[in-house]
Order: sequence, then C-alpha cells, then structure tokens
Amino acid sequence: MENRLKEMAENAREALRGASDLDELEEARIKFLGRSGILRELQQGIRDVAKELRPQVGKLINKTRAELEGILESRREELEQLKVHERGDEQRIDVTLPGRAEHSSGRHPLLATLDDMLEIFLGLGYTIAHGPEVENYHYGFEALNYPADHPAMDEQATFYIQDDVLLRSQTSTVQIRVMEQQEPPVRVVVPGRCFRRDTVDATHSHTFHQLEGLCVDEGITMADLKGTLLAFGKGMFGEDTQVRFRPDFFPFTEPSAEFAVTCFACHGEGEGCRVCKGSGWIELGGAGMVDPNVLAGVGYDTERYTGFAFGVGIERFAMNRYGIPDMRLLYSGDMRMLRQF
Ligand code: DAH
Repeated sequence: MENRLKEMAENAREALRGASDLDELEEARIKFLGRSGILRELQQGIRDVAKELRPQVGKLINKTRAELEGILESRREELEQLKVHERGDEQRIDVTLPGRAEHSSGRHPLLATLDDMLEIFLGLGYTIAHGPEVENYHYGFEALNYPADHPAMDEQATFYIQDDVLLRSQTSTVQIRVMEQQEPPVRVVVPGRCFRRDTVDATHSHTFHQLEGLCVDEGITMADLKGTLLAFGKGMFGEDTQVRFRPDFFPFTEPSAEFAVTCFACHGEGEGCRVCKGSGWIELGGAGMVDPNVLAGVGYDTERYTGFAFGVGIERFAMNRYGIPDMRLLYSGDMRMLRQF
C-alpha cells in the first residue's frame, strides 16, 4: 500500500508540475486528486490494510494529498501568470512608435456642388427623390414621350444591357417614377448618375451626374419655372445673377428651353472672361413645361394640372465653379487635385 502510494505521488508530482497549460493541469488534478481519482481509490483501499497500520497509512494519504494540492496551486498560479503575460505581448502598445498622420479631406467638388444645389431646393420646399440607374425602355424613353425613332434611343447614344434594359441617359426617367407614386402637388429634385456612350475627353464622360427638378400642381406656368431657376441661380452665384431662356426641344417638355445664368466671374460682362469664354453666360441645362402627354401617361388630369421640369449637369457646373479644366480630373481620385478642396 505504501509503495503504491509513493508511486502514485511520484506520478502525480510529475504530471502537475509538467502541465504546460491550465487545461492539462485540470486533467492531472481530476486524474489524481479528483472525486474518483487515484488518491481517493487508494484511500478506499485502506479497508484492506491491517488495522494497526491504518492510522499510519491514513496519515500518509493525508500528507500526500496536502503536498499534491500545494503543487497544484502553485502550478496554477504560474500558468495564470504566464497567460496574462502572453496576452500582454499580443496587445502591448509601443508608445515609442511615431503616430499615424490623420488625413483630413474636404468635400469632393462634385459633391460640394450637388450639396449646395440641393440646399437651395430644400429651402424652396422641394424633397429629394431617387430612382434606379438601370431602367427599362418604358421609363427611359417611352413614358417621356420619345417617338419610336428618336436618335437618343439609338445604341450609339445609350448603353443597353438587354433589348429592353438600359442605363439611364438622364435623370428625367425619375420624373415618371415619382409621378406614378403620388398625386400632385409634386415638388422633387433628383440627383443621380447618368450614362451615355460618349467618348471620354476633357468635357465628356460616359458616366456623369445630373440634378433633375419637377414641379406639378394647379396653375403652374412658365413664369414659375423662370422664377425658380432665377432663385436657384442667385442662390448659387449671388443676388445679381440673371437667367436666360432660349428655345430648345425635348420630347417630354413643351415648350422647351435651354437655360443659362450670367457668368459668376465677369457678372455677365463677357469681354475677355475665361470662365464664360466671352459670352457673359454659363449654360446650365434644359427645362420646360411638362408635356401633357407625359402627365396623361401617369394618369394625371391634364385639364387640372400643369408642371415644369428642368435638368442641370453637375460636372460642367463644378468645373466652371472651381476652374477645373478637365472633366477626367473629377473621377481620377488624384490626391494632388483632391487636396485642393
Ligand atoms: N434630360 C435632359 C438632358 O439630359 C435635360 C432636361 C431638359 C431635363 C428639359 C428636364 C427638362 O427636366 O425639362 O439633356
């Protein structure tokens, strides 16, 4: 019995001291000191020991248990310490390393321009609407009153994904989606990306941005359109700004106009001005009175309601405003340019 006890104690010491982590230590504890562990087994075997020897063996068992529990506790402490250190190594911060420089950036000129535009229209009581960039023929052209043979629908001008599915070439498509969703009065502006099969150069891009406006209510006239665009021009360029309309044609407006504002650089003087190339005017986009065919197409009562719409190109506007000579710079992500804003 004593020999078995000694042998067990020897194995237990080795296992406890040799445990390389807390799990291994726990395993050893269960094996030797656990409720159905080897020591307990030996303790129960005391019944088979001669009576006069029992007290002596009992003492020895208790002593061994106390010793092994001591070893267990000190090894546990060691291993816990080790774990804390390991974690410390992983998470330690080297305070001597140089800091990382924060890059602060301004607003991208396109976004800054768009934000300022939206601000003005929000102030006039407009809400912002959005529509999909991938459209079907119906919203892209048909509902906008394009005749079946209009050149804009040509594959030369528009990106087609399938026969009937295209990338919108103008935000005017969202006019239809908005009107289908609500009854007048309608006052929305729609910022968004548009796509055309243009060859990329300093003033053209296959992907560009527009801001569309739509207002439909009882008694809306061309004077409301002009007043709204004048307020827009003044908001963007200052109180002395004027608006000019020239006849134009768009299938979804009648009458249609192209509109321009007096040049913010020369205040309409023109002569020698590099921004407006001497004309005194900066062309901003197209506009007009919504064609009754379009209103009827979405189920509006054309006897009761009239409306105006307009579309502004954001790229040209931003380029004029910030003196950016090449449209490609707007999409380049070149820090030498972006840092200037
Ligand atoms: N969608 C036209 C374009 O991309 C611009 C435009 C013209 C929008 C007249 C309008 C409008 O809402 O009434 O050239």
